[in-house]
Amino acid sequence: MAYDEVGSGPAVILLHGYPFHRSMWREQIDLLSGAGFRAIAPDLRGMGETRFSGEVATMEDMARDVAALMNELKIDQAVVCGLSMGGYVALEFIHLFPSRVQALILAGARAQGADEAEKKSRQEQAERVLTEGLSPVADAMLPKLLARRTLAEKPDVVARVREMILRTDARGAAAAQRGMAARRDHSNDLSAINPPTLIIAGREDTIRAPDDAEFLHSGIQNSRLEIIDDAAHLMNIEQPDVFNQALLDFLGAIH
Ligand code: MLT
Repeated sequence: MAYDEVGSGPAVILLHGYPFHRSMWREQIDLLSGAGFRAIAPDLRGMGETRFSGEVATMEDMARDVAALMNELKIDQAVVCGLSMGGYVALEFIHLFPSRVQALILAGARAQGADEAEKKSRQEQAERVLTEGLSPVADAMLPKLLARRTLAEKPDVVARVREMILRTDARGAAAAQRGMAARRDHSNDLSAINPPTLIIAGREDTIRAPDDAEFLHSGIQNSRLEIIDDAAHLMNIEQPDVFNQALLDFLGAIH
């Protein structure tokens, strides 16, 4: 498993979304390592530099990979932060390994599993990415991943996100889509989540809308909710200062 590890102190594990890789956490790795944390950002299986040739990369497999990485790095407990697909993996991780989570951060995430329509659409997207590659995925996703102002005013962010998508391996992307189609429904597990939890949503996110964040917030007792303006699904890249401040406030309160 490829990963970045920067800084020393309490461990914070950053789990990226689809179809991205660990470089999406660049600003947060810099922030956390500079603020006395050990920031660890892996490439989930099939994405970035972590190769995977199977047909399905489940959220459970990815969560078990994270636990194995923690074992290798001799980390018993960490703050686990996931965005979107990384959020599904984080929810799966706390389901499987509750005692290993010191605190949880869920951004652009959703507790519910995929319904039949979502499963069908993900199967279709998996087939399509295998035949057509990532370029149509980038064209279709960019207007949803980024807020209007980001699209209009931050061409560097648009270019960075497009480039990240185009670097993704088509087989890895298809395997992740199939894994997301099969993800567990965590709706009834939320009340069992005890560690402090920060939930973050982009106000303009149409992939995982603020309603999904409200649902997580109402189910997880010890949680706080931040909604970021002028941001959509990739809120940590679109509004890094606001996102980072939310992280620091949350981590400062628990450490
Ligand atoms: C992501 O950013 O990880 C994906 O958009 C997640 C999803 O398709 O649900």
